[in-house]
Amino acid sequence: MMSSMATTQNSQPGAAATATAASAPPPEPAAHSAALNASPHPPPPPTRAAQGPDWWLMMKAFLTQGKKIASFAPSSRFMARKLLDGIDWANTQTIVELGAGTGPITTVMTKLARPETKLIVIELDPILCSRLRERFRNAANVDVILGDATRLGELLAERGIRQVDHVISGLPLPSFPAAARDAVLEVAARTIVPNGTFRQITVMPLVYYKLYRRYFDDVRFRFVPFNLPPGGVYVCRGYRGTLLATK
Ligand SMILES: C[S@@+](CC[C@H](N)C(=O)[O-])C[C@H]1O[C@@H](n2cnc3c(N)ncnc32)[C@H](O)[C@@H]1O
Repeated sequence: MMSSMATTQNSQPGAAATATAASAPPPEPAAHSAALNASPHPPPPPTRAAQGPDWWLMMKAFLTQGKKIASFAPSSRFMARKLLDGIDWANTQTIVELGAGTGPITTVMTKLARPETKLIVIELDPILCSRLRERFRNAANVDVILGDATRLGELLAERGIRQVDHVISGLPLPSFPAAARDAVLEVAARTIVPNGTFRQITVMPLVYYKLYRRYFDDVRFRFVPFNLPPGGVYVCRGYRGTLLATK
């Protein structure tokens, strides 16, 4: 298994941007500001095994961390399928998953991907990351990283990855500070191959469509009724630039 711990910090992409756009979505939780600004302090390593079923881990994380987790239950397999629908696995070398939680999307990816396809899985929460490491310990093509998605550029550079086919996101991006969201999307867009996509799950169907349209020319929404709560997927192409830069 390629399981690994994020080591380098500092200089997050997009961190230079300071102003929050006036029409940006609702204010961010302090936790994300911390994630963006606290780069000299890496998250603690997952020292203890995650105890209990996935739904309990997610519920506990949601109750204690709120908007940083954004959903009280793991995504359903219907969400995972809809999210991954249309990916040409035969020609996919690398996929990045941001905010993997307990791994419901990762699980489906491991079933669809060829053994040669690299799955880079990034999760900030040590307990959830511990569950991911345990779950995918025998999957040689899965690299579980305990780290902050706002450091995506560095995490990929440390692994010598310059291009990825798709970026899959479970991150609560609308509640990130604008600069942190810009940082994630800018690096993702810069790294995705020309025909690749940025795919985002949501449990608030269509509410943030306009937000993603401000970042991408082409945004398709796929509704997923069979999820707790019902949700959906944005499939985005044609990055337009960071929100702060385009205001
Ligand atoms: C809505 S949950 C989605 C979990 C999983 N993908 C699913 O579909 O069930 C959001 C996940 O993003 C993670 N997360 C939040 N901020 C993050 C960050 N800055 N970097 C990496 N992961 C983050 C949370 O810990 C949580 O596991």
